[in-house]
Parts: sequence; C-alpha cells; structure tokens
Amino acid sequence: MSTVLITGANRGLGFEFCHQYAAAGWNVLACCRRPQAAKNLEALAVRQPGISLHALDVADHRQIERLAGELGGRAIDVLLNNAGVYGDSKPNAFGSIDYDRWLEVFRINTLAPVKLAETLLPHIMRSQRKLIVAITSLMGSMTDNSSGGAILYRSSKAALNAAMKSLAIDLRGRGVGVLILHPGWVKTDMGGTNAPTSPEESIAGMRRVIDQFTLEASGRFFNFKGQEQPW
Ligand SMILES: NC(=O)c1ccc[n+]([C@@H]2O[C@H](COP(=O)([O-])OP(=O)(O)OC[C@H]3O[C@@H](n4cnc5c(N)ncnc54)[C@H](OP(=O)(O)O)[C@@H]3O)[C@@H](O)[C@H]2O)c1
Repeated sequence: MSTVLITGANRGLGFEFCHQYAAAGWNVLACCRRPQAAKNLEALAVRQPGISLHALDVADHRQIERLAGELGGRAIDVLLNNAGVYGDSKPNAFGSIDYDRWLEVFRINTLAPVKLAETLLPHIMRSQRKLIVAITSLMGSMTDNSSGGAILYRSSKAALNAAMKSLAIDLRGRGVGVLILHPGWVKTDMGGTNAPTSPEESIAGMRRVIDQFTLEASGRFFNFKGQEQPW
C-alpha cells in the first residue's frame, strides 16, 4: 500500500487530498499545526482508518526533524508539500510592506518544502514511487503576471519553483522525481468563494497527474488538468 505525507491537512486542499487518498486505499500521514483542534480531520480519520494525524508547523525545522524521527523506517511514496499562506493584503502592499511577514511567507511557502524534502529524503528513497510534489501557484509565473501586486506570495512561489526545479535535477540520479503543480483557482479559505474550481475537482485532477508521473515529467510545471504551465 502506498503512503502519502500531506502538510496543511486540516482544511482546504490538504483536507481534500487526505479524503481522496484515504478513499483510494492509501496510508495518509496527515500533518497539521494543531491536530487537537482539527475536528474535521479527526472525524475523517475515524471514518477512514488509513489516516494518521501528526503535529507539524512547517516553519519549525525542529518539528520537521522530530517528525522524521517519529516515522522511523517508514517509507513515504509521495511527499505532498501543500501547506501555504498568501500573506499579501491591502495594508501589506508596496508602500507599507511588512518585511517580517514577507520572511514568514518565505519560511512557509519556500523554505519548508525544501527542508521537508531534505529531511525526509531517506523515507522517500525507501518507497516505490519516490516523488516530491510542490503545490505552487500560477501566481509564481513571470510570464502569467499581467496584473502585478501580491509581491509576497508571487515571489515565494517563484522561488519555490526555482528550488524545486534544482531538486528535480539534483535528485534524478537517485530515481526521485519532483512535480510542480498549480491546483487551479479553487474554492478554499485562500481561494475564496468566487473561485471557479471545487476542491474535489482540483484534487481529483492533481491525483491523476501524480498517478501518471514518470521521471520524464520531473522538474516540470503542470496545472491540475495536466497542462504544462509557463514559468
Ligand atoms: N486555493 C487556491 O485557489 C490556490 C491557488 C493556487 C495555489 N494554492 C496553493 O495550494 C495550497 C493549499 O491552499 P488552500 O487553498 O488549501 O489554502 P487554505 O485553505 O488557506 O489552507 C492552507 C493550509 O495551510 C496550512 N498552513 C499554513 N501555514 C502553515 C504552517 N506554518 N505549518 C503547517 N501548516 C500551515 C493551514 O493550516 P492552519 O489551519 O493551521 O492555518 C491550512 O491547512 C497552498 O500552498 C496555496 O498556496 C491555492
């Protein structure tokens, strides 16, 4: 049975990833900042026993190392770096940027997926699939940026893409793949109610892309429909 580790599993896209992977018979290591407050996830884990809950603030490197220790010799087929924050807002825009907040957005959106990959590489190497997935955003694309703004978010996702592209090259020789995925604009707390795509549709699409992954696709940038995206 395959195992997926999902960050930010308590709500939004992370929660739907847990739901769909567990329904498909996978073991799901569902990570979130406060498992004791994650009532929906707890209820899901009761209904779908393949899910286990783990405390993880992805910005805290000691917690990442502790989790790796707790997992011992377990194999992780897919490391799903999903947790993310937007960070931008009207009061936090050019002219009054909160630079500490910008660094925090980078810690969560950019540094954490790399630190997780670094720390959990032995677990990934032990698995059949050996895949690292980064949930990025088309907002990190230079080519697609025609509206400006969102400096914190755009820059953190562009940097995530650059880091993951390098990882794809660096890890290819060890048979480890890296997939860079845009989930679409999705109805979640982050995406808002005007988003055209449901979490169910986005996750079903991304699972299909993940399922069909071969090393030939490593380091490439796709959306949830499997269409290649511009950097
Ligand atoms: N929704 C969209 O339209 C859209 C579009 C493009 C890309 N994305 C990307 O998709 C991913 C998921 O987004 P979403 O729409 O599901 O957002 P969301 O509804 O706001 O959920 C964000 C998740 O990330 C978690 N998180 C934030 N900071 C964390 C930290 N330091 N440690 C651990 N978990 C943390 C949150 O946990 P808490 O509950 O503890 O805050 C929550 O589970 C993000 O990477 C986002 O950038 C989303």
